[in-house]
Amino acid sequence: MITHVQAARLARDGGEPAFPAMEGKPQPKIGLEEFLSIAERFGFSDDALARLRAAVSEEDLGPGPNLAKYATSYPPNTKGAAFEQKARELFGVPYALGVSSGTAALHCAMIAAGVGPGTEVIVPAIGFYATAAMVVAAKGVPIFCDVDESLHMDPHKVEALITPRTVAIAPTHVMGSICDLAPIVEIARRHGLLVIEDCAQSPGGSYRGKPVGSVGDLGCFSISAYKIIGGGEGGLVITHDERLWERANQFAEAGGLWRRDRFAPPRYAGELFNGTNYRMSELEAAVDVIQLTKLAGIVQRYHAVKFRILEQLKRFAEITPQKLNDPAGEIGYTLRFYPATLELAGKIVEALHAEGIRAGCHGLHPKPDWHIYADMFPITLKTGTMPADQPFDLPLYRERGGHVEYHRGQCPVADDLFARMVSISLNQWYTLRDADRIALGINKVLAAYCTPSAAAPGWL
Ligand SMILES: Cc1ncc(COP(=O)(O)O)c(C=O)c1O
Repeated sequence: MITHVQAARLARDGGEPAFPAMEGKPQPKIGLEEFLSIAERFGFSDDALARLRAAVSEEDLGPGPNLAKYATSYPPNTKGAAFEQKARELFGVPYALGVSSGTAALHCAMIAAGVGPGTEVIVPAIGFYATAAMVVAAKGVPIFCDVDESLHMDPHKVEALITPRTVAIAPTHVMGSICDLAPIVEIARRHGLLVIEDCAQSPGGSYRGKPVGSVGDLGCFSISAYKIIGGGEGGLVITHDERLWERANQFAEAGGLWRRDRFAPPRYAGELFNGTNYRMSELEAAVDVIQLTKLAGIVQRYHAVKFRILEQLKRFAEITPQKLNDPAGEIGYTLRFYPATLELAGKIVEALHAEGIRAGCHGLHPKPDWHIYADMFPITLKTGTMPADQPFDLPLYRERGGHVEYHRGQCPVADDLFARMVSISLNQWYTLRDADRIALGINKVLAAYCTPSAAAPGWL
């Protein structure tokens, strides 16, 4: 304890300062142990971890790294900022926003696009529940559009679903394939609607030479463990439009850290509103910025494998291959076709398994699946977080003439194709010989159960 009273004279009057400097040596908040914990999560052996510890324990980490997306400098020198920069370059857009998940990306995009009470968004019958769910989370009403033989939103069926309440069309690029965007964008432009592309299942694919996500008004990606790129949980929104980007930011970072002048009054109506925190974690960004650099190679490998196989497949009267809207832009981590009947699909899947080829058909063992509209129960049951908090019966929606019912059978093409399609999972690391053996196996199985026919639809 300090007892002498030299401090009686105030430092401002020339006395000795009471606390000239801190003596204690702070340890970084995030340091070696956290770093090693990550290394441990990677599965390094005890020996490798010990060597790593020895190698890095002498490093002076100072106050330690800041693992937040926003830093005090502008632009922030963070992995989150680097991730967004890389996304802008890769997808050829001026604006990108890293967020905490693909679902968060969709939520931000819906809000940015003006989805809210009394509005509707057209979503595909096949895709993933999150797209329709985020319409509801924004207090809008999803309207399901049936698909065609590409498994994507059928452009011919979109226009009939447009009402005075519609604000956006949100097509999904399904399972490594590409949606036919041109007619959808054309319809949207004619009706003054926005297009929100859900690219979670097809990142790195392209439509008529442009990266998916950059064709419509907003592109949403999941960069997660379950997708072809991603670490744990991450997401991305891209756009050409500064205001859409600002509104997406405002929703994702309601604390205002995204703004250069955090507390400045709104510059225009619609810039500031109550949002939430969907910030991308800096740890995730550190992984995902690298994952983005790997995307082109991953897509190129999948594409090469799929087309090597497709080029060798024979035509059969009972087999309709999935229609590819843009073969050049296809990723191709699955290969799909529709046997004429479910019974035939069953025989084909069984025989493919015996050949060693991983194939599945949903209709053989039907169980709820959130990739098809009729099974998206929280939507079809029209529930909210509370009875009064669901957009389907809001007075505003009713006043605008809105009324929606959901039931199996309302998108019959989706029901039918989803049940009998055979999906074969491909691997980007297949060698040419692997691909050739798969092609051989598929041809062998189809020839055993189907009728060769030059008039049957081709694979390419
Ligand atoms: C088409 C589609 N949209 C959105 C999502 C949601 O992404 P996340 O799991 O990152 O929230 C997924 C994830 O499966 C998806 O497939």
